[in-house]
Amino acid sequence: MVKGIKNIAPPLKVGIAGLGVVGAGVVRLLDQQADILAARAGRPIKVVAVSARDRRKKRDMPKGNWRWFEKAADLAKDPEVDVVVELIGGADGPARALVEAALSAGKGVVTANKAMLAMHGAKIAALAEANNAPLAFEAAVAGGIPIVKALREGLIGNRVEQITGILNGTCNYILTEMRTTGRDFGEVLAEAQKLGYAEADPSFDIDGVDAAHKLTVLTSLAFNTKADFKAVHVEGIRHVSAIDIAFASEFGYRIKLLAIARRTPRGIEQRVHPCMVPHDTPIAHVDGVFNAVSAVGDYVGRVMFEGRGAGSNPTASAVVADLADIAAGRTAPAFGVPAMKLQPLKAAPMAERVGRYYIRLIVRDQPGVLADVSAVLRDHKISIESLVQRGRAEAENQPVAVVLISHDAREADMERALKRIAKLRSVLKPPALIRIEPL
Ligand code: HSE
Repeated sequence: MVKGIKNIAPPLKVGIAGLGVVGAGVVRLLDQQADILAARAGRPIKVVAVSARDRRKKRDMPKGNWRWFEKAADLAKDPEVDVVVELIGGADGPARALVEAALSAGKGVVTANKAMLAMHGAKIAALAEANNAPLAFEAAVAGGIPIVKALREGLIGNRVEQITGILNGTCNYILTEMRTTGRDFGEVLAEAQKLGYAEADPSFDIDGVDAAHKLTVLTSLAFNTKADFKAVHVEGIRHVSAIDIAFASEFGYRIKLLAIARRTPRGIEQRVHPCMVPHDTPIAHVDGVFNAVSAVGDYVGRVMFEGRGAGSNPTASAVVADLADIAAGRTAPAFGVPAMKLQPLKAAPMAERVGRYYIRLIVRDQPGVLADVSAVLRDHKISIESLVQRGRAEAENQPVAVVLISHDAREADMERALKRIAKLRSVLKPPALIRIEPL
C-alpha cells in the first residue's frame, strides 16, 4: 500500500529488457521514488519481469521478486507485462524484434533506442497506433533533458523553424578537454576511454552518428516528417586539431559538434558537424559531458534546455517520465501527429548551405603561396574576411599554418575551391574546414 493514496488503481506492470547502468537506474528510481510516482501517476509502477544476459552480475539496484527471461522477446509474451522498457540498443536485431512483438501484442513500449527510431521511427509509430499501444522515447534523445515532451507538447502551438543541439556528451567532453588543456584529439580520446567516458569502439560517438540518430528523431517531432536518417549530412570530430581550437579562441569562437535541423525554402536541412560558435552565445558554454538543445518557434522564440545527456540517473529519469505518462493514461502520437500524417522529408541539399567558413591550411612558407590560394577562392567567388599566418617557419619551405575566414559562401563553391587548393604544390596537408554558425 502506498502511503497517503487510498483506493489506489492497479499498478502499471513493467518488463525491462537490458539491465545495464540505465536499466539498473530505472529499477532504483522506481523503488526509491515509488510514493511520489504513485501519487503523480495515480497508480504504482511495478517491475514484474526483466531480461538480461548475466543473472549473477552485481548491479547497483535493489533485488526484486520478478521473473527473469533469457530471451528479451519473451517479455512481449508475458501476459502480466503491460509495458516493455527496451534498453538493449541497436537499430535492428533483438531490440527491434522485441519492440515489434510487444506493440503487436498491444503492450506499451518505452525505449531509449535512438538508432532504431532514426531508422524505423515512422514504421514503429504506425505499428503502435495500429495496435492502440503507447510508444514513448524521452530517453532516446539528450538523456535527462525532457526535449521530446517539450517539442511534442510544450511547443505544440508553434511552427518550429530550427533545432540546434549538442547531442553527444562524448564529443562535447573531448572538445572541452582539448580547449582547456591544449591537447590533441587522439590523446584526449585515449584518456576518455580509460576513464570509461568513451566506448572501446567510440566511432558512433566521434564520427557524429549518435548525434545524427538523435537529430533524426528531433526533426521528425519538430517538423512532423518521417524520420529520415539518410538525409542527415554527418561529420564527426576526428579532424579537429589543437591548432583549430586555439585559432577558434583567437577569433572569438568555440568549436562544438552541433546537430542542426532547419526549415529552409528548399526543404529541411539536417546536419551534424563541428561548428565554430561565437563564444558569447549560451551554447558555447555548454561544456564537458553536458548536452543542450535549443529550439526556435514562431510564437515562443528561442528556448534552450541544458542537462546531462547520458548516465544512469538522468536517463532513468526520462524512462520513468514515460512510464508515468502511460500509467496516468497520458498518451499522444509518438512523433506529434498520427503516423499516417507524417510527411516524407524533403531534404535541403547541403551543397546549398550559405554561411561563413574557417579554413586551415598547412603550407610551405614560401613566396606566392597565399596568392595561389586566394586566386582559387576568387575563381569560385569566395571572398575572404580575414587571413592569418602565425609566425614564420624556421627555414624557407618549412610547414606553417595559415587560416582564412570567408564571408558568406555557398557550400558547393567552397567544396570545389578546397579540392583545387588541396592540389596546390605548396599545400602540404588536406585543408581543414569548419563551418561558422551565427546561432
Ligand atoms: N554515447 C552518448 C553520448 C550517450 O556520448 O552522448 C548515449 O546516448
